[in-house]
Formats: sequence, structure tokens, C-alpha cells
Amino acid sequence: MIVLGIESSCDETAAALVRDGQTILSSVVASQIPMHAAFGGVVPELASREHVENICFIIEKCLQEADMTWKDITAIAVTRGPGLMGALMVGMAYAKALAFAVKIPFVGINHLEGHLCSIFLDHPDAELPALSLVVSGGHTSLFHQKELGSYQEISRTRDDAAGEALDKLSKYLGLGYPGGPVIDRLAPQGDPHSVAFSIPKISDGSLDFSFSGIKTAALRHIKQHDISPLKRSVSENSDLVPQPILDLLASYQSSIVDQLLDRLKKALRGRDVRSIQISGGVAGNSELRRRAREFFQERGLPVYYPRSELTTDNAAMIAAAATARLQAKAADPWDLRPDPNLKVSATRSLSRNHKS
Ligand code: KG4
Ligand code: ZN
Repeated sequence: MIVLGIESSCDETAAALVRDGQTILSSVVASQIPMHAAFGGVVPELASREHVENICFIIEKCLQEADMTWKDITAIAVTRGPGLMGALMVGMAYAKALAFAVKIPFVGINHLEGHLCSIFLDHPDAELPALSLVVSGGHTSLFHQKELGSYQEISRTRDDAAGEALDKLSKYLGLGYPGGPVIDRLAPQGDPHSVAFSIPKISDGSLDFSFSGIKTAALRHIKQHDISPLKRSVSENSDLVPQPILDLLASYQSSIVDQLLDRLKKALRGRDVRSIQISGGVAGNSELRRRAREFFQERGLPVYYPRSELTTDNAAMIAAAATARLQAKAADPWDLRPDPNLKVSATRSLSRNHKS
């Protein structure tokens, strides 16, 4: 089975061909980051227009790289949500039109489920049940994944996502967008104990996340210590970044990692867990990768991440997430609509048959 995956939920237009949910035959990602960087974050209307411009070319490139034609594709998988409505509409409209023309089934996939499945592209034998954390610029959610395709949400963020918190501080300090990779690169030059941030406790005892408090504390610290934003050219050379900023970045990143690990450790209690799986853009973070491995592997729990190009948005994860459903002969009807707030539990049932 060869699935064409299409992803256009935010600021990447991506297409991939995946064989049997496992082998990536080609994967093309057109990032809009340079365009949005000028605004310090994603501008939804610009994102939609850019998807319209790019989508045909990206899919053709994807077919060319795999040396395939439309006739080789068994089915199409497309991100249905969550994401930006205009951006989702571009991918869904293209996927439906193509599937209709080529007379093959299509399925709408939850973007978070795509991230969750990105683990299995490189680690098909990753043990289940797992604690599965999706941590990115738009999402921070923790699941108990009992078996493939069965997710119980344990907690989610009540305000900002972890990546969003990194992006916002970076923007404020003039360090550029997206902030996660910049902070990842600069933080090792700073002292992670120099600024004290606390791990938020949720009053009802839930394991929900919250990152807006530390963002406010960081802004307060900047004002109290008269720290001025930098010019981008300075941030690219860590020798020119003042030590108080490096210390703040190290402490901030470390406190975000503290919170992610705190929730993972607490979620272990009373649950059957054979592995820890961490996906999404922030799963590329060096400190998170190192500390999660150190802590859990010492306790006999393997920790899995996708390879780095599969942590951020891509279409191979969308194709991988669709394969089990398509093998079960499940497909979506032509009137399926994008859903910007799609919940993982709200993904379509496996039993529905494709109507063509
Ligand atoms: O998964 P993704 O491409 O998009 C969403 O679904 O949101 O994640 C993008 C996010 C951004 O917030 C970016 O700053 C963050 O992932 N990110 C990182 C790293 N690489 C990307 N955060 C921390 N460390 C990194 N190395
Ligand atoms: Zn994502």
C-alpha cells in the first residue's frame, strides 16, 4: 500500500509517499518560516495563500523523487485538523479533488495523531502501552497510548504550548522565529540555575500544563534587569549575546523541560507503561532529549523520539497515521470538512466505509 500524505495545517506545505506505513519513499517540506519570520510568528492569511501557491509543485516533486505517477498511489491521507482553517482547507480540497480524479480513497487525519505516529516510522517496535507526549508550537498534550490507534488524553496545556512559550520569549528578545531552535543552540552557554522559575501546580490536581506563567515571569525579569532586545545578527553568534540573556534562556528552557518531565513522571503512577514517546517540534530539543533519556532509561523505560526532520511538521507522519485505517478499509466521505479544533478522540471511526 502506497499512501500519499499531505500536510498543510500551519506554516509548512508538505507531501510524502509512504509504503505500508513504514518506508518513506519521498518526503518534501516547503517551509514558510522565512516569510513569517519577518512578523515574528505565523500570519494565517499569508499561510493559506502560500499553501495555494506551493501545493501542486510540492506534490509533483514528491512523485518525481520517488519516481512514481498518480497510478502508483493506493490512497491519500490529509491533515483534517487541528490547525488554521484556511490552511487546512487548501490541503483538504486538493486531496479530495485528486482522490476523486484518480478514483482512490482518502482519509482525513488528526495532526496530533500524525505526530504520535511519527515515532513508529523509525521505531516500529516501540513498546506499547506508552506515555506519549506531543509537544510543539501549537500543542502540548500527554496521552496514554494503550495500543496502536487507541489514545486516552491524560492532560493538555491550559494556555500556551511549550514551543509557543519558547517562540514568544525569543521574539521579545529579538532572537528570531521560530525561537525553539535558537534557544536550544544558545542555552548551553548560560547558567540554568541563574533565574528561578517554578513549576506550575494545577489546583484541581490534574496533570495539565501551563506555560504562560513562566513567560510573564521572564518578561518581569527582563524589565527588572533592564535587558534590551538584540539584533538578529548578534543572536547568530553566541559570543556576542550578553551573559544575562544566555542565563535567562538557559533557565527558561530548563524550567520548560522540568515541567514536561514532571508531568511525565507523575503520569507513570498507576499506569501500565512500557515506553516513553515524545514527538512534535520541541521533541528536537537537545536538553529535553538528554534529560528524558537519562531519567527514564535508568528506570528501565526506553525513550523514543522521531529522527530530527520528522519532529517538525511533515507529511510522512500523516501517511503513516492513515495506513492502519486504510488497511481496515476505512476511508472518508467526500463531504468531510476540515476542523480547526479537531480532538484526537474525535477522529473518525474505523468502521466507516468509503463512498465513491
Ligand atoms: O511540530 P511543529 O513543526 O509545529 C506545530 O505543530 O506546532 O513545531 C514547531 C515548534 C516551534 O514552536 C519551534 O520553536 C519548536 O517546535 N522547535 C523547537 C526545536 N525545534 C523546533 N523547540 C525547542 N528545541 C528545538 N530544537
Ligand atoms: Zn505539528
